[in-house]
Amino acid sequence: MRLIQRTLGSDLSSSSRDFLAIEGLAPNDLRALLDRAERLLPAAVGDAAAEERLRGRVVANIFFEDSTRTRVSFEIAAKRLGASVVNLGASGSSASKGETLVDTARNIEAMGVDAVVVRTSISGGAALVAQHLACPVINAGDGRHEHPTQALLDALALRLRLGELAGRRVAIVGDIANSRVARSTTHALVALGAHVVVVGPPALVPVGFEQLARGAGSISITHDLDSIIGEIDAIMMLRVQMERAAASGIAPDYRSAYGLTEARRRALRKGVPILHPGPVNRGVEIDDAVADDVGDSLILAQVSCGVAARMAVLLRALDR
Ligand code: NCD
Repeated sequence: MRLIQRTLGSDLSSSSRDFLAIEGLAPNDLRALLDRAERLLPAAVGDAAAEERLRGRVVANIFFEDSTRTRVSFEIAAKRLGASVVNLGASGSSASKGETLVDTARNIEAMGVDAVVVRTSISGGAALVAQHLACPVINAGDGRHEHPTQALLDALALRLRLGELAGRRVAIVGDIANSRVARSTTHALVALGAHVVVVGPPALVPVGFEQLARGAGSISITHDLDSIIGEIDAIMMLRVQMERAAASGIAPDYRSAYGLTEARRRALRKGVPILHPGPVNRGVEIDDAVADDVGDSLILAQVSCGVAARMAVLLRALDR
């Protein structure tokens, strides 16, 4: 009946179980998701059996932009909770014949799926899909806008390492302008009371970015990584988004100005955790030895936290 109503268009309202952005999410909601993800972590990584609370449900991953970590971890998260998963990419689907994202999602929903996970190059594309679907829609990265589950996993990995994040100084370094991760993770950290220092070349840091701050924390901007390197509690390096900044390219001296080289790593306070959402451009934004440091690099811990974060988001969307 629900499906028939949906197909007839009698319920086109966006579901309150959508998960589209961190901006605007209540800090309590954010904390509840992080707490739930933390409890789910042993099951997420296979160290404990998960309660299969989504048995019989079907989750569709519609990924119209490439992805390794996010797509696979949504799939593992859904399967750990007992759901079935269908995966659709741009190549191999009728998107290659010009079918729109919204039409694609509506057709998949008409087959009776229970939730749709969307990745798209369109900023605002996940919200657009949500306006047209009755089932919950989860944003897995929309253009330069947001990547809310990445922010959850970043906050979780940091919280597990540092404890309470309020008052902590976290640097986010690189291509801020083109990064949905920078936006979402900044919103999450500020909501949790952290101070975010965004660092990058002037062309890659949007003017007024510090005005995004809502919540207990704050944001500042610097173009000089070396001026803050010894004063931070965590550092997140971002990939230079070649596919979104084709025209600007990267300057040959990017690494010397903004890369986390071994020399800069030595300038960090002892034990400062190093994060990167992946995929890593080795030798550009981060050097090999730093990325692979078993003590301080949280890069693979972030990936593990990603499964738990997505389990928490799927339960929020689908658990009755
Ligand atoms: C990020 C993305 O796709 O936004 N990757 C990810 O989901 N882990 C970051 C990036 O592509 O650089």
